[in-house]
Amino acid sequence: MRIFQHVADIGDLNAALKEAQEVKRDRFQWQHLGKNKTALLIFFNNSLRTRLSTQKAAMNLGMNVIVLDVNQGAWKLETERGVVMDGDKSEHLLEAIPVMASYCDIIGVRSFARFESRKDDYEEAILQQFIKYSGKPVFFMESATVHPLQAFADLITIEEHKPIARPKVVLTWAPHPKALPQAVPNSFAEWMRAADVEFVVTHPEGYDLDPQFVGDARVEYDQMRAFEGADFIYAKNWSCPGVTRPDDYGKVLDDYHTMMDWTVSSRQMAVTNNAAFMHCLPVRRNMIVTDDVIEAPTSLVIPEAANREISAQVVLKRMLEAL
Ligand code: CP
Repeated sequence: MRIFQHVADIGDLNAALKEAQEVKRDRFQWQHLGKNKTALLIFFNNSLRTRLSTQKAAMNLGMNVIVLDVNQGAWKLETERGVVMDGDKSEHLLEAIPVMASYCDIIGVRSFARFESRKDDYEEAILQQFIKYSGKPVFFMESATVHPLQAFADLITIEEHKPIARPKVVLTWAPHPKALPQAVPNSFAEWMRAADVEFVVTHPEGYDLDPQFVGDARVEYDQMRAFEGADFIYAKNWSCPGVTRPDDYGKVLDDYHTMMDWTVSSRQMAVTNNAAFMHCLPVRRNMIVTDDVIEAPTSLVIPEAANREISAQVVLKRMLEAL
């Protein structure tokens, strides 16, 4: 594997899930693969889980790891070609990428949506430059439009906890005070459509996800109806994807105070099939989900986060095997 961005990059999902369980049984059995190999993890944005789990996964494989917080200690990077660099940015990405690549074997990049241009975000302007100019395998650690390490960990978690062979999985929008990217719901939708689950998406009108990710999945604007009989509830906020309202891309469409009936609580959970609750974290309690739901025995947020180490290790292992 040279690029990890979409569900198709992982190939056969059943084989990937089987490999995840093999990693779980003994995560240190491939240390020879990473000997004298270096993973460079580049963060343009904050992280807790991605940073720690990916670093741990690389160490499990015997790799050396370098973590770079671009905004703390590195030169401020210009990302646009053609600009006169007379501002506060001292280095251009076009030099920085090949320099960074010269110190490593595999690169992971986190670079969120900027909400300045839907076109730039959805064309993955930053990550595509890493792919083009690094000459190294690149994996997405949450980009403008996707978070595949999270979606893979989510799928592993669903596989481990599903009460029936083909569970009903509901992705629900929930309120948030700030505009958040669509990367997590995009990838979750993409991976659930590829998995053997009954998948339903619920959100207020205007938050319709990009068709390249949501495809022909059932979209239900009535949250209670969507929750009926669900086995898994996956909550997440996202800002307007600009599909049905192009001028509102990246915006919060309504004052969140008026949307609090979308917060996942015992009221909605009561109509599910005793559903497990999932969220990628970090989560704002009593905005996205009430205390009682996230603290219930049916909450999977901690095992879900723990599976981030496993999804990252499968991806890194496959990249090492292909070097
Ligand atoms: N879920 C997730 O990616 O968490 P972090 O933003 O803390 O890495």
